[in-house]
Amino acid sequence: MSTVHDALQALTDLTPGRQQILSDVVAGLSRTPRQLPSKYFYDARGSRLFEQITQTPEYYPTRTELALLKRVLPDIARSVGPRLHVVELGSGSGRKTALLLAALHDPVAYTPIEISRAALLSSIDHLAPALPEVEMLPVCADFTRPVAVPMPEREPARRLLFFPGSTLGNFEGEDAVALLRAMRQTMGRDGLALVGIDLHKDPALIEAAYNDAQGVTAAFTLNLLARLNREIGSDFDLDGFHHRACYSTARLRIETDLVSRWAQDMHLDGRTFHFAADEPIRVEYSHKYTDDSFEALLQHAGLQVTQRWNADSPAYGLRLLRACAVDQHHVIGAGIGAQLGEHLGFGVVVVVLDGDAGDLAERLGQRLGLVLVGGDRLGDDRDFLDALGLELSGGVDEPLHLGGLLLLAQRGGLELAVDPLLGGGLVGVGRL
Ligand code: AVJ
Repeated sequence: MSTVHDALQALTDLTPGRQQILSDVVAGLSRTPRQLPSKYFYDARGSRLFEQITQTPEYYPTRTELALLKRVLPDIARSVGPRLHVVELGSGSGRKTALLLAALHDPVAYTPIEISRAALLSSIDHLAPALPEVEMLPVCADFTRPVAVPMPEREPARRLLFFPGSTLGNFEGEDAVALLRAMRQTMGRDGLALVGIDLHKDPALIEAAYNDAQGVTAAFTLNLLARLNREIGSDFDLDGFHHRACYSTARLRIETDLVSRWAQDMHLDGRTFHFAADEPIRVEYSHKYTDDSFEALLQHAGLQVTQRWNADSPAYGLRLLRACAVDQHHVIGAGIGAQLGEHLGFGVVVVVLDGDAGDLAERLGQRLGLVLVGGDRLGDDRDFLDALGLELSGGVDEPLHLGGLLLLAQRGGLELAVDPLLGGGLVGVGRL
């Protein structure tokens, strides 16, 4: 026990400080339409209010997920196998984690990933006494980026990432893909992820869950402004904004706004922000999924569903994910090719052509999805690209330099996305 605490003390607390919050808020409020990051809901009062939301009759996700988890845990335990290293994104209330760890066969270690050292400490304090056989290896980090997971003393069979609560639903578009990609990397090649997702259903039920009659959700949303006033010195008029949460059937998500009741000014850090009457600040998304929308999202991240468990009325899902098949993942060439493959860590083909193109074509046949070649080979390789049925990428008409390599081509119909982790560089991310 004391060693876990010692290890924790050594970790830097990554809870965002005033400067970070200030710059996020200024950036968000300077956009049109204005927005504020939902992650700032969770100060001490916000976390308490969220717990209260989960007790309201209207907010079904938490209790539905808990009941579903209890019902299918034996099945999950069978599917994932013994000797797991369980890695949880966020440390949550620990209740679901305790159930999961208790149901698994001989779990080896547990790693909550959390930016708040205080939250890490309390989750370990709750779990460790009941689970003396499980090595506690907390990590203070931002789970939206790939995380280096510590090695347990006893060797685990694989990692299982646990991401319950439909928290994924708070991430939009590219952010959701980036998070899933980071998860893919954190879980490793043979790893699995168990993810809770809220499912699309009657919009009236969904909207009620985000507009409870007691007004707890409204208080939770407005608490964001109170927190900002306290922590970064803004002067939001708490009576001047109201909570509004609407379900968009087109986008399959709750869109939560704080709406300015009248024309008003807010001052922050020497700036003035003017809000028109009825002007909204977008503060949260809660995406709901269909099988199709969820799988489309996963495809962008090189992940796939291996098992699904659903609760119905209200509909809610748990999904077991794994990385796309390894035989679609080829890294050829040493050096930067290997690094890129490692970095991308998903079911794409990354090839560095340092040898003979014909030879390569023969070896890979039609499985080639993405080609990275040395800079002077563009012309030479056109025939070879034709032979493989690859075309120069539509989205990229100028070769892009990336550590001396050029992104050259991809098979028609592949998605191409910028990998944000590589900053200015661009890496094509394809799926076969
Ligand atoms: C904890 C992020 C999953 O989006 O449903 C509840 C947060 N916001 N009511 C959700 C929340 C408003 C919740 N998550």
